[in-house]
Amino acid sequence: MGHPLSAAFDSKSGQLILIALLLMVASFYTGTLFGHRSITLVEKMGPSDSGEPHFSNKVALTFRRTPVFLPDTGVNVCPLVYNEYIPCHDLSYISDLLPQLNLSLREELERHCPPLEKRLFCLVPSPKDYKLPIKWPISRDYVWRSNVNHSHLAEVKGGQNWVHEKGQLWWFPGGGTHFKHGAPEYIQRLGNMTTNETGDLVSAGISQVLDVGCGVASFAAYLLPLDIQTMSFAPKDGHENQIQFALERGIGAMISALATKQLPYPSNSFEMVHCSRCRVDWHENDGILLKEIDRLLRPNGYFVYSAPPAYKKVKEFPLIWEKLLNITTAMCWKLIAQQVQTAIWVKEANPSCRLQNADRKQLNICEDEDELKSSWNMPLKNCVKLTSDQANLEKLPPRSERLLQYPSSLARIGINVQMFDSDTLFWQEQIRHYRKLMGVDPSQIRNVMDMNAYLGGFAAALSTSPVWVMNVVPVSLNNTLAAIYERGLVGAFHNWCEPFSTYPRTYDLLHASHLLSHYLDIGEGCLLEDIILEMDRIVRPQGFVIIRDKLSVISRVREMAPKFLWDVKQHVLDNGQRKEELVLICRKKFWAIF
Ligand SMILES: *[C@@H]1O[C@H](CO)[C@@H](O)[C@H](O)[C@H]1NC(C)=O
Ligand SMILES: *[C@@H]1O[C@H](CO)[C@@H](O)[C@H](O)[C@H]1NC(C)=O
Ligand SMILES: *[C@@H]1O[C@H](CO)[C@@H](O)[C@H](O)[C@H]1NC(C)=O
Ligand SMILES: *[C@@H]1O[C@H](CO)[C@@H](O)[C@H](O)[C@H]1NC(C)=O
Ligand SMILES: *[C@@H]1O[C@H](CO)[C@@H](O)[C@H](O)[C@H]1NC(C)=O
Ligand SMILES: *[C@@H]1O[C@H](CO)[C@@H](O)[C@H](O)[C@H]1NC(C)=O
Repeated sequence: MGHPLSAAFDSKSGQLILIALLLMVASFYTGTLFGHRSITLVEKMGPSDSGEPHFSNKVALTFRRTPVFLPDTGVNVCPLVYNEYIPCHDLSYISDLLPQLNLSLREELERHCPPLEKRLFCLVPSPKDYKLPIKWPISRDYVWRSNVNHSHLAEVKGGQNWVHEKGQLWWFPGGGTHFKHGAPEYIQRLGNMTTNETGDLVSAGISQVLDVGCGVASFAAYLLPLDIQTMSFAPKDGHENQIQFALERGIGAMISALATKQLPYPSNSFEMVHCSRCRVDWHENDGILLKEIDRLLRPNGYFVYSAPPAYKKVKEFPLIWEKLLNITTAMCWKLIAQQVQTAIWVKEANPSCRLQNADRKQLNICEDEDELKSSWNMPLKNCVKLTSDQANLEKLPPRSERLLQYPSSLARIGINVQMFDSDTLFWQEQIRHYRKLMGVDPSQIRNVMDMNAYLGGFAAALSTSPVWVMNVVPVSLNNTLAAIYERGLVGAFHNWCEPFSTYPRTYDLLHASHLLSHYLDIGEGCLLEDIILEMDRIVRPQGFVIIRDKLSVISRVREMAPKFLWDVKQHVLDNGQRKEELVLICRKKFWAIF
C-alpha cells in the first residue's frame, strides 16, 4: 500500500477529521432512532432516507430446516441477543461438546460447526446503537464503542495500552503486551535484531507475516507502512472479541486457534511468524505446535517470540525456556537474537542437520505427501519436512514484482504463464467496471473478501487501493492458495458448506465469482440460501456483495435477495472469452430491530 500513513495521522488533522465525522453521524441519528419499542424492522439510512420504511420480516429465533424454507414475509430476523452470532464458534454449542474435547490441547478453541438443524437460519441483527463503521484510516485509531460493546480488553489490558475508552469511541494507541511503547518502536527493534543492527524488517526480506494471538492487531496495522502483509489470528476466548476489534479497525484478521489441527494456510507461506505473549504452549507435546509453524515458514524465515520464558528467570519460565531450546535445536532452528523481551529464531534451510537429528531420534521427518492438498481439517503432524524444492530456497523478489510474476507452484496444477497473465489482465479490467457500477467513493470500502479467489487476480488488481483482501480458496477446488501467497497476497482455505470464522458485519465487500454454481451439487449446508445467509451475516450494513455466475444461479439470487433485505442490480460484463456474463451488484440495507 505504502500510502503516507504518518502524514494522515498527524494528531491535529486526525482530530479535525474525527470531529467532522462525529457531527455528521450525530445528525444522521438524532430524531429517527430512539423511541418506540414494538419489534419491527426499520430501514435506518437508505439511499432514500425519507420516512421509515418498515419491512415485513419477522423477528424470531429460527433454525435451519430441511428442506430449506424462505417465508413469504422474508427471511426471519434473529433476536437481538444473537447480534454476535458466529455459528462455528458458538460458546453455547461448544459447551455441550466439552466432555468430548481435549481441553489440555485447547481443542475447545477450534472451529466446531453445529449440525444443520442446530444452526440459526435468520438474519443476524446489528447491536443496539450500531453505527456505520468509521472509515479507514481513522478507524486504525478510533472505532465506535457501540459497535463492539466489550470493555473487557480495556479493563484487563489497559496497562498494556491495547485500547482505551474515549467517550463514544474506542481509542487504539498502538500498544500491545510486549510493545507498551507502541508497535513502531517494537517493529524497529525486530528489524535491528534480524539484521544485526543494520536494517529493518524489509531489508531482512520480510513481506508476509503470520501474527499468532494478535490481540487487536496493532502489530499488523503498523507493519502496513513497510508494505508488509499480515495474516493475524486469535481464538474467540477470554480476551473478548479481539478479532472483532481488529476488523472494525479495518485490519485483516480472522478467528483461528493452534490446538489439534493445521492452520488453514499453505506451507512455506510466511517469512515471519510472530508471537507476542500469544498464550500458546509451544513447549508442550514434543513441540508439535512449533512443527506447524515450521510448516508455514519459508526457509530462512523467522520465528519471533516475545514472552516471559524468553527473559524471566523465575517460576516455571527457565524450564519452559530449556524445553523450547531443546525442541528448536532438534528442529535445526538457530537462535539468532535475544534482546529485551524477545527471542528470534531462524528456520535454517539445511537438510543435513535435520537428517542427522532424525538419525539420533530427536526429530521425525515427514513422509512425502501430496504437496497440493489443502491444509483444512488436517491433524497436526509431529514432524518436519526437508527443504528440497530449490524454488523455495531462492529469495523472493519485492512484493510489487511478485504481484504480477507467474507463481511457479501453478505449473503443478496445469496453469501456464499465459493463463496467469490473461487472468491478471482480466481482473484489472473487471475492477474498473465494478468501480463504475458500484458508484461509491472508494474510501467506503476497506475490508474485502474474495470468496473464490482462484489465482488472486481480483486482489492483485486492488493492490493500489487502500483495502485489504482475504483471499479464500474453497477446499473442494485446486489449491491455488500457495500461488496467492507467492504473489505476496494473503488468504485462507475454507469450505463454504460451513460458516466462516469471522464476526458478523466484518466485510465491506464480498466477491463471489462462480462460487455459488460450484456449490450447487455439493449438498445440504451449502445450498444457495445457506451461502447467501452467511454472506449476509458477514457483510456490513450498506456493504456490497458482487456475484457473477451462470444465468440460472443469478436469477435465483435476484429473486431471493429482497427477502434478505438486499438491494440488487443486474449487469452484463464480458467473461474474458468474449462471452457475456451476468453480474449482480447487491447491497445490504441498513436496518435495525426497533
Ligand atoms: C489429550 O491429549 C494429550 C496429548 O495428546 C493426551 O496425552 C491426553 O491423554 C489427552 N486427553 C484426553 C482426555 O483425551
Ligand atoms: C453495552 O454493554 C453494557 C454492559 O453489557 C450494557 O449495559 C449497555 O447497554 C450496552 N450498550 C449498548 C449500546 O448496547
Ligand atoms: C535500531 O538500530 C538503530 C541503529 O543502530 C538505532 O538508532 C535504533 O535506536 C534502534 N532501535 C531500537 C528500537 O532498538
Ligand atoms: C553482527 O555484527 C557483529 C559486530 O559487527 C559481528 O561480530 C557479528 O558476527 C555479526 N553477526 C552476524 C550474525 O552477522
Ligand atoms: C534438554 O536436552 C538435554 C540434552 O539432551 C537434556 O539433558 C535435558 O533434560 C533436556 N531438557 C528438558 C527440559 O527437556
Ligand atoms: C485441478 O487441476 C487439474 C490439473 O490441471 C485439472 O485437471 C482439474 O480439473 C482441476 N480441478 C478442479 C476442481 O478445478
